[in-house]
Amino acid sequence: MSSEQLNLFPLSAQITPAGELTIAGHSLVELADQYRTPLYLYDGQTIRHQLDTLTGLLERHYPSPSMVAYASKAYFSYAFACKLAELGAGADVVSLGEIHLARQAGFPAEVIHLHGNNKSEEELLAALEWGIQAIVVDSLDELALLEELARRAGRRARIWLRITPDLNVSTHPHITTSHRASKFGLHVENGDAENGIRQALASSWFHLTGLHMHLGSQIFDAEPYRQALRRMFAAAEAAGYIPQEISPGGGWGVRYTEHDPDDSAEPWIKAVSQTVVEECQRRGWPLPKLVVEPGRWLAARSGVALYRVGAQKTTPDGIRVVAIDGGLADNPRVALYQASYTARVVQRAADEPSRRMRIVGKFCESGDVLIPEIWLPPVHRGDLLAVPASGAYQLSMSSNYNYAARPAVLWLEPGRVEVMQCCDRPDQPGWWVYRPEEAR
Ligand SMILES: Cc1ncc(COP(=O)(O)O)c(C=O)c1O
Repeated sequence: MSSEQLNLFPLSAQITPAGELTIAGHSLVELADQYRTPLYLYDGQTIRHQLDTLTGLLERHYPSPSMVAYASKAYFSYAFACKLAELGAGADVVSLGEIHLARQAGFPAEVIHLHGNNKSEEELLAALEWGIQAIVVDSLDELALLEELARRAGRRARIWLRITPDLNVSTHPHITTSHRASKFGLHVENGDAENGIRQALASSWFHLTGLHMHLGSQIFDAEPYRQALRRMFAAAEAAGYIPQEISPGGGWGVRYTEHDPDDSAEPWIKAVSQTVVEECQRRGWPLPKLVVEPGRWLAARSGVALYRVGAQKTTPDGIRVVAIDGGLADNPRVALYQASYTARVVQRAADEPSRRMRIVGKFCESGDVLIPEIWLPPVHRGDLLAVPASGAYQLSMSSNYNYAARPAVLWLEPGRVEVMQCCDRPDQPGWWVYRPEEAR
């Protein structure tokens, strides 16, 4: 495997002299035997490195307080949330489940903000009661609902407004969120953004502490962040509002294959920092706290999905089809938005690729194709395939389609394996066997 390919894997990934891929010094063959496949692995070193890198970049480029809030939708579980809370990250949550998980994991309320384009009353009340950093109001409709809930609860709500700058960004249409037809946020062009700011300022039930935007995901160009921030500042100025906190969201891209561009976060952090400073200086405003909100940039590279090779066949049009024991249920990203992946044979990671093949999953959908075309060394039943950059939006969007068991998830440190989630095995009693008579 070339060093460029190895760089897609976690920082602790190595190839042994025998040609086997390891992570944090652990044999993936042994882990797969013990915990079954599909199996998801998170490398502690990589998560810490990504978080430290972003914190360091913010310190270097932004001359006022800043914060990294993990977009927990990328992947969250109790154990994973505990790790991030310990590392001092904040979190963006979007549901009652994520609110509870973050709270139980020990995140302080003041580093949590709640998103969502249709938050339920229960979610809004849970956030109000916990007293989080900000409820990020997404519409004028929600502003009215939250005002009523705050009045009834007798609690002033600390809020941000999510501003939609009505800009197109270059990424897959399903992961762009800031265009004129987006369902997210208060749009600038129709005046909702400005009206929302005015209404929030006028109500004694709100403490409007900041403004937020999120352009989309898998973005490698910093220019749209600059343009969008300028639009957000213009809307604030038009409404006579000086924000104390600003969040340009997340969305910076990561490398899933060696064909993806360099994913250094420096251009992103530099651009958002410089733009916020310029926009404030121009108006003589004090600098707000800058809150970045990455999901995949923190979690993707740290994660590896391990699958076992099963059946193979050659189709009449000559495609060698290799099936693995996971796919659509643990990783719907390919079916949802044609995400690209690569893979390596764990036991022969150093071998030169010599066969062209298609890697398919085991689920009853023709769209369950993990990698439409890849060159690998010859693979055999029982071989393990390791898929890098699997730490974000795979398990969090997974299903148990075909009653698949959800994979076990491990956190790896040198000399230590921590089970973050158990595999719910279909041969053991579990939640999926619902017997109405037992519920009575
Ligand atoms: C509001 C918001 N913030 C941050 C993120 C994180 O995006 P990414 O994982 O691409 O950084 C998302 C992703 O959907 C989001 O909706």
